[in-house]
Amino acid sequence: MAKVTVQKLQEMCDKGEKISYVTAYDYGQAVLVERAGIEMILVGDSMSMTMLGNESTVPLTTDAMVHHIKAVVKGAPSPMIVGDLVFGSYNEGPEQAIRSANRLIKEGGCDTVKLEGCMPEIVEKMVKGGIGVQGHIGLTPQTAGLLGGFKLQGKNLDAAKKIIDQAKSLEQAGVFSIVVECVPEELGRAITDAVSVPVIGIGAGRHCDGQVLVYHDLLGLFDRFTPKFVKKYANIGEQIVRALEDYKREVKDVKFPSDEYVFGGLSGEDLKGLL
Ligand code: KIV
Repeated sequence: MAKVTVQKLQEMCDKGEKISYVTAYDYGQAVLVERAGIEMILVGDSMSMTMLGNESTVPLTTDAMVHHIKAVVKGAPSPMIVGDLVFGSYNEGPEQAIRSANRLIKEGGCDTVKLEGCMPEIVEKMVKGGIGVQGHIGLTPQTAGLLGGFKLQGKNLDAAKKIIDQAKSLEQAGVFSIVVECVPEELGRAITDAVSVPVIGIGAGRHCDGQVLVYHDLLGLFDRFTPKFVKKYANIGEQIVRALEDYKREVKDVKFPSDEYVFGGLSGEDLKGLL
């Protein structure tokens, strides 16, 4: 696959070709996503929970994000790689946001960045500064506490209108795409119709221009909680535990390492003479 660009994503959206998007946080995961031919990778701040065991995305630092982006970039040359701006790295204003995005792009090597919420003044300055920005509205995990927790957003007409207006003002500010999380399917459709940039849904129904899921969720590698919108395409976590249990049993029973895994070449008798 040729390197996926903003232009390529817009072309796919205009042609009605759905965009596939998934998170990845390290080299090994990125290699597999590249092999699957998925068009976009988000080095998401969900790594705070899936990789680092935190309760929320909030504690993640820009240093950690840069570290993980570097690894993902090495494993996946073709997909567009989006670096997530971490909580507290852009809400002070455009200068802080540009400084943080520059770090993800210059030091990490990602192609574009994503930020949560509707901050058109910040986005506009970032875009003017040459940074590709993806918006993220609906349920925004960094500020989930203010939204009543990890809950469906835009449930009534007033709340739905607010989210549609946010999408329009982010488009106006110059985002190349918008992620919409955890809203009713018809609101996902309305947002997709309201803007011309690609809208990527996560729990936003079937009518968005593409879908994004968290790597650990879709592969069955994270079971602390599973949102309704997650489809588990595999149960890799269970397979890993079974393999580790087999390994442990064989170590205890001295079945591993067997003949095929050991090196010959010296006689035990001769070596005894050296003791
Ligand atoms: O960090 C993340 O995984 C995300 C997705 C939920 C879109 O922001």
